[in-house]
Amino acid sequence: MPLVDAQTPGAIGEAARRIAAGELVAFPTETVYGLGARADVADAVANIFAAKGRPIEHPLIVHVASLEQAAFFADPVGVAARLLMERFWPGPLTVIVPRRPGIAAAAAGGQASIGLRMPSHPVALALLRESATLGVPGIAAPSANRYGRISPTQALHVQQELGDELLVLDGGACPVGIESTIIDCTRDRPALLRPGRVDRLQIERVVGLRLAEPDAASPRAPGTLAAHYAPMARVRLMETDALRAASDPLRREALPQGLAVYLRAALQFPHGTTLRHMPDDAGHAASELFSVLRELDGTGVQFIWVELPPPGAEWEGVRDRLQRAAAA
Ligand code: TXA
Ligand code: MG
Repeated sequence: MPLVDAQTPGAIGEAARRIAAGELVAFPTETVYGLGARADVADAVANIFAAKGRPIEHPLIVHVASLEQAAFFADPVGVAARLLMERFWPGPLTVIVPRRPGIAAAAAGGQASIGLRMPSHPVALALLRESATLGVPGIAAPSANRYGRISPTQALHVQQELGDELLVLDGGACPVGIESTIIDCTRDRPALLRPGRVDRLQIERVVGLRLAEPDAASPRAPGTLAAHYAPMARVRLMETDALRAASDPLRREALPQGLAVYLRAALQFPHGTTLRHMPDDAGHAASELFSVLRELDGTGVQFIWVELPPPGAEWEGVRDRLQRAAAA
């Protein structure tokens, strides 16, 4: 099955019929492309784990189109989660809340909690609503990549990751570009499990509390494994000064062959080095991050050196993804 333009008449309807029948469909969200299956049917969810090569105890995020759908999966929804849903949904924020017993156990990887998100991408919302008319209460969808690899931000990336048997709704490039912020709301004080476009300061303002750091008792979030988002090339995060020193004409002999550099600073590297400029704005940098890593990797370079992004809450998501890519 080729990529199907999501605007094609009937495309969303066909995708929703497949979801209702328990099949897999990949679809765009504002963060990254998701690999979706109906969340309430264990056999449908099992197809996701098989296609990704993902361990089955890893919980999936369930996507919903309304607060009523969220309430189908969650009980109780506490005050913090409610405030976050009202402020940031639809949008790139996932809340972990207590799971309603007996519902979507497979999607939750058997955990007593469940991750919920209402995406803002019009194609994702249309698919959720159309599927709801066919009796689907929510769509479980991890990022549509093979386990441990870079998340796809374009339809073509999904096909490269998962093959052309899969129906992929093509909605263009994902504007946010990194996965949703994940907040654990199952404990007294909410904790940030995965940073994203919605940053910790925005969240703290809404819940009126400092976020806790995840600890041993926090729900497991394997997307937070140290080594994740792995390109083939070796990624190295470098301070600006270290990059400047390495680019010094007197020291260039020491540069490795097959090098790509992704940086904000204006530095010259010798001919043969692939250079990409990182945007100064954190949102723009996030939006292109995974496609740049994929593209640089695709040139066959052996090393990707990346300038450490600036400090500050708005860069936390980009820093996090780069640290994981470098740890692989
Ligand atoms: O932006 C996103 O969140 C994308 C799009 C498709 O919505 N989805 C995504 O899903 O990134 P995935 O499966 O690649 O990452 C989901 C993360 C995993 O780290 C998982 O462990 C965590 O969410 N998670 C989901 N449910 C959880 C739960 N009940 N408890 C703890 N962690 C959970
Ligand atoms: Mg993922």
